[in-house]
Amino acid sequence: MKKLKIVFSTGAGVSAESGVKTFRDADGLWENYPVMQVASAEGFAADPALVHEFYNARRRQLLEVEPNEAHRLIAELAEDPRFDVKVITQNVDDLHERAGSKDVLHLHGELMKIRSVKDEDYIEDLSVDDIETTPERRGRNGHPMRPHIVFFNEAVPNITVAMQLAAEADVFVVIGTSLAVYPAAGLIRCVRRDTKIYYIDPNPANVGMVENLTIIREKATVGMKKLMDILDAKSQ
Ligand code: OAD
Repeated sequence: MKKLKIVFSTGAGVSAESGVKTFRDADGLWENYPVMQVASAEGFAADPALVHEFYNARRRQLLEVEPNEAHRLIAELAEDPRFDVKVITQNVDDLHERAGSKDVLHLHGELMKIRSVKDEDYIEDLSVDDIETTPERRGRNGHPMRPHIVFFNEAVPNITVAMQLAAEADVFVVIGTSLAVYPAAGLIRCVRRDTKIYYIDPNPANVGMVENLTIIREKATVGMKKLMDILDAKSQ
């Protein structure tokens, strides 16, 4: 039997119930930090120490949180022989992986990695006992290193693969994103006309005209349980 291809596209909301702040909700990260200072290429050039410290704080927080039921249910679906599951995420946390998901494509980088400022393809993993970085940090190859984060005003190298995955999806599930940041927000328009789209979010953005869209106006954990029931019924 042909497997149903399910592609998830997740944003900060999928990690909210783990205790990770979203960006644009009330009291979100971008309300408390000057976004262009801590998360743009220009901000990094102007004050790299500030940017390193911002991501050090994000890593410290990441070590204190755990994947939630939504991350776990996504990983569980991938174990089901009826489904072929891929995850595209805008998140820089590693909660999908820690929940057991193996096929995760990070669009905006990864907190637990650093990369060379001279060569974007030279990437090193950080370990949990070595999460603090500074502008003085050097990689094993001697290069100065920076957070492995796609800053505002930088290209999103993984978007081409993500668009391909979206185009192959039979079911496309968007979870917890305000769809405010492109090109990630455009993935919902890369799917085939017959692809079923679900958008799980307690406060979904207005997506305009999109065919075959079902909005599940719930938090990620509750919405994922509802989605599992729908998928079960679909694949009987
Ligand atoms: P946002 O903060 O823009 O949006 C978070 C979304 O999650 C909103 O639509 C909320 O309604 C929803 N939400 C809140 N709690 C939820 C819950 N428990 N379950 C499900 N949804 C919930 O975050 P993103 O759309 O992910 O980029 O932001 C996109 C990008 O903007 C981020 O990757 C980041 C940021 O600038 C970089 O840092 C490069």
